[in-house]
Amino acid sequence: MSKTISIISCKGGVGKTTSAVNISSYIQRQGRRVLAVDMDYQHNLSKHFGILPGHLKNSITLYDLFVAAMDDCSEEELDKLVHSAVRKSTTVDVIPATAKLSLLDKLLPTATCREFVLREILKCIKNEYDYIFIDCHPGCDLFAINALTASDSVIIPVEAHPLGLEGLDQVEKLIATVRRHLNPDLKVDGILLTKFQNNTNCCRDIRNVVKNSFGDRIHVFDEYIKYSINIAEAPEFGISIHEYAPRIEAAQSYAKIALEVMLR
Ligand SMILES: Nc1ncnc2c1ncn2[C@@H]1O[C@H](COP(=O)(O)OP(=O)(O)OP(=O)(O)O)[C@@H](O)[C@H]1O
Ligand SMILES: [Mg+2]
Repeated sequence: MSKTISIISCKGGVGKTTSAVNISSYIQRQGRRVLAVDMDYQHNLSKHFGILPGHLKNSITLYDLFVAAMDDCSEEELDKLVHSAVRKSTTVDVIPATAKLSLLDKLLPTATCREFVLREILKCIKNEYDYIFIDCHPGCDLFAINALTASDSVIIPVEAHPLGLEGLDQVEKLIATVRRHLNPDLKVDGILLTKFQNNTNCCRDIRNVVKNSFGDRIHVFDEYIKYSINIAEAPEFGISIHEYAPRIEAAQSYAKIALEVMLR
């Protein structure tokens, strides 16, 4: 059985892409078949996995798949396109994006079944993977709705920062709306605290506030991700933290989160 997981937050820079890369990579290292989908026109997930825009000239990317699915192309055609968009790898396979994905800002709202386009795309390939991770761009918009509609569950990274809780209410509401109208089976795997600086009261306070304010209805992972310069460096080499610096605490925390996600 395949499981699709969105990494979502209304806020930017909270560790969505970092978490998508490092959780998906760890699960792949456990022998599972894993696909990561870059649903962000900043295309940071593609870059994290070593896929640079120069590698994608004349390649099919997520943008092309959306255009084809919105044009209502035949199932066979879409299936063929989706398979040719996947960048196969010895680690995590990727459906990459480029800045062109931003053109969907105008196109997507006009599409019929506009909330279900990503679900239609992933239907073609879901059975070939044990896990599919969707890295969303910041925002609670139609992109996020597409991701949530296509997903079985969601992970919500929250930066351990005084402003980290901003937008969390909005994410919770969006999930509730998607559940009510579009995807009743959508689950929340949990809230994941990121960039945690151990020696600050502020981080400890944020953790308590998250647990007290949301913990009665949303799981908050006990494990949190510490701030580490190694985490920030790894993308430059196109590899995950499990290859770059597997012994650091943040890598081990990502490993524990990944195992918990697999058990859920
Ligand atoms: N635990 C960490 N320790 C140190 N740096 C981190 C950590 N997690 C993320 N970062 C860094 O913080 C920045 C933002 O992280 P990331 O790109 O994962 O966030 P994001 O939520 O995907 O951002 P966006 O909303 O722009 O897509 C990056 O430079 C990343 O390397
Ligand atoms: Mg990102």
